[in-house]
Amino acid sequence: MRDPRVAITFTAFGSCLVLAGLSAAADLTNGAAPAAKPVTFAKDVAPILQARCQECHRAGSMAPMSLVTYEETRPWAKAIRQRVIARQMPPWHIDPTVGVQKFKNDMSLTDEQIKTIVQWVDSGAPMGDPKDLPAPRKWAGENEWQAAAELGPPDLVIKSEPYTMEAHHQDVWWRPTSDIPLTEPRWVRAVEMRPGSLSGRRITHHAVAYLMQDDAESATPGGGDPELNRRGLLMEWAIGKSYDLYHPNTGKLLVPGAQISWDIHIHAVGEAIRDHVELGVWLYPKGQEPKYRTYLTALQAIKQRYMDIPPNSIVESQNFTVLKQAAMLENFQPHMHLRGKAMAVEAILPDGTSQMVSYVGKFNFNWMTNYIYADDAAPVFPKGTMVRVTAWYDNTRGNPNNPDPDQWVGFGDRTVDEMGHAWMNVTYMSDDDYKAWAATHKNQLANADDRPIRINR
Ligand code: HEC
Repeated sequence: MRDPRVAITFTAFGSCLVLAGLSAAADLTNGAAPAAKPVTFAKDVAPILQARCQECHRAGSMAPMSLVTYEETRPWAKAIRQRVIARQMPPWHIDPTVGVQKFKNDMSLTDEQIKTIVQWVDSGAPMGDPKDLPAPRKWAGENEWQAAAELGPPDLVIKSEPYTMEAHHQDVWWRPTSDIPLTEPRWVRAVEMRPGSLSGRRITHHAVAYLMQDDAESATPGGGDPELNRRGLLMEWAIGKSYDLYHPNTGKLLVPGAQISWDIHIHAVGEAIRDHVELGVWLYPKGQEPKYRTYLTALQAIKQRYMDIPPNSIVESQNFTVLKQAAMLENFQPHMHLRGKAMAVEAILPDGTSQMVSYVGKFNFNWMTNYIYADDAAPVFPKGTMVRVTAWYDNTRGNPNNPDPDQWVGFGDRTVDEMGHAWMNVTYMSDDDYKAWAATHKNQLANADDRPIRINR
């Protein structure tokens, strides 16, 4: 059987991306001479946990244990070391060495922070001087709308039907539908999603709100799978995520009759909890129409729903979408199911050059992370650019999420079937707008990751 790591070699880099990640981790653990000053929990580690972990790892939040006090953290030192070196925690799995590098919602650790944690664990995980401890971080006690500070209360709040998760139960994907109460078309400026209660945060792993509406105009100019695009993604929520505020003069259109189709991943926590998920929607004032419309588009890695993943195999699938107008890509959310392993998005420009846009090398089905490009880093491509999406699937025992490597897997909705697309908010613009953008973003164009990329089969 082929080594899965070899299956995703990008030969032009001269090394495999996955292996490059491992050797970077090795640099972080070896090499450096022991630090002159001891690394302590109080002085060095607690501030990192506050900034990057406690949102989820504290009492009443979603993670299995609290990482607030020294006593709570100390027993997990070895597991923490292992998870941060592998870049599995925090759950930010995009490759930091290729493609777009700046994000609005980056929760990853810097190499320096990883080094600090590793040195702390390797030197016996000492407490240090309690006087060095930072003041405990304050968390909003209430389940408040975070965008309200900037935008005021939401114009619409749409709730899912409630669900009761038993104390002990398998994971559930709860998929009710809710109406959006609108009598005329309105433009959306921002959306925020949250579980209905604090206890609901403990059982809600993540939630997705698909927008279902019959809107001829919303037939995406960029193509993609029409079936999936009908079900445009409005918002995705996982703990740590706050709200989506679109670029100035950019929005999404809601038409009367629109519905939300929820996909809520719930897990049991040893106590029965009943809760729902709700979506706050902030609208542009009546009559105000933003210049740009953004379309959540499923850019396919699969051709015509054809998938053939034999038992005990690693499979690659690839597909192309041509941008029929110049467009900005605003974010990247890879979507695969249990066998999903990695996904790459590249752009092949009309002049023949190519650019790596994003690569997630450690896709994990439990974490549907959405990587939102920073305003000054979101790539813009001219009309005629081909977007190539490549997905890799691991149907071997080496994939810890694989329920049964001896099964054949085909295309389908169930999590035991497969899919493969990059959800991207695509904002189309005129050729003149593109020229104006290119003239004012020479730096960004010059820094684009244009190393020619060839994917090895
Ligand atoms: C977005 C929420 C979130 C953030 C941020 C986060 N974690 Fe986690 N973490 C989880 C959840 C949920 C789990 C359990 C499921 C899993 O393993 O994916 C977990 C699991 C873990 C585990 C494994 C526990 C076990 O049972 O073995 C470790 C260790 C860990 N996290 C450490 C960290 C550290 C250290 C940070 C910060 C540098 C961090 N996490 C940031 C949500 C988070």
